[in-house]
Amino acid sequence: MSNYPYTRLRRLRTQAFSRDLTQEHHVKASDLVLPVFIQEGTRKRTAVEVMPGVERLSIDELLHEIETLEALGVRAINLYAKIDQEKKNNDGSEAYNEQGLAQRAIREIKVRFPKMGVMPDVALDPYTSHGQDGILDEQGRILNDESVQAMTMQALSLADAGADIVAPSDMMDGRTLSIREGLEAAGFIDVGILAYAAKYASNFYGPFREAVGSNTNLGQADKRTYQMNPANSDEALREVQLDLEEGADIIMVKPGMPYLDIVHRVKTEFGVPVAVYQVSGEYAMLKAASQKGWLNEQKTVLEAVLGMKRAGADMIFTYYAKDIAKWLKES
Ligand code: PBG
Repeated sequence: MSNYPYTRLRRLRTQAFSRDLTQEHHVKASDLVLPVFIQEGTRKRTAVEVMPGVERLSIDELLHEIETLEALGVRAINLYAKIDQEKKNNDGSEAYNEQGLAQRAIREIKVRFPKMGVMPDVALDPYTSHGQDGILDEQGRILNDESVQAMTMQALSLADAGADIVAPSDMMDGRTLSIREGLEAAGFIDVGILAYAAKYASNFYGPFREAVGSNTNLGQADKRTYQMNPANSDEALREVQLDLEEGADIIMVKPGMPYLDIVHRVKTEFGVPVAVYQVSGEYAMLKAASQKGWLNEQKTVLEAVLGMKRAGADMIFTYYAKDIAKWLKES
């Protein structure tokens, strides 16, 4: 039963101060993680055509970028390496080369910016000749346990380089346990694991595959034998439960906007730190419509990430991290 006119919800919306006093959720620069793409070379910035505003950076350029991020209050990055085609093979063995691109980048970052949170991706797709996240057998099936072994070596080499948190994004069974045991045995007891627990086989990853150069390798193949069916949500809770039991410190839901029901269920059910990834396709949609003048970029992007916080995410991986931090500073 309504008790109108005593209750009028518009009362608190009439003035800016009361709207602000009663605002339930906020986005801060320190909630954001910027995914960055790196490449070999010096003073090299290469535009990613399908993600306007995003560039692949050589390590020296990345260091400049981190200086800007720190000034803006963005405290963490997620790292992806685009390596040369001739270094790729079926096993993705370049992923655990101690002198690999990602490993060298992390070492340099940690010397110059020890407080920047460095959270490299753990998966084989930027390193395999076929663009899959795991190792294939002769029939083209992805070998779970062999892939887990390779990714455990990758995680250890990244931890050795100075990674603060490793982020397995592959969706193989048992990888979190294997990585946790590996880290413990090697003495990296404070290196965390951000597990992509509910990662869906999504078409919204298209632009990313161009950015790391795995799209032509992948061709017409897909990742549906390991990434989740977009139709499922109970299964996401099972994935999360397993990753937590295996030692995950943070749970990732990915993509973001079409999957906020999953973010909400995971946060409500488990009450653990939850990350959400506004993926490349979400960025591309917002960017393209903004460039056409169809959306107000700043207001729409801020609304999109606020929705992620409202759904229950503690942190947001977004290619807009720098822009958002700038906008928040200006307002
Ligand atoms: C692969 C990986 C992907 C993304 C992050 N890590 C793509 C995929 O699974 O094919 C996608 C990120 C994005 O679209 O922004 N391990």
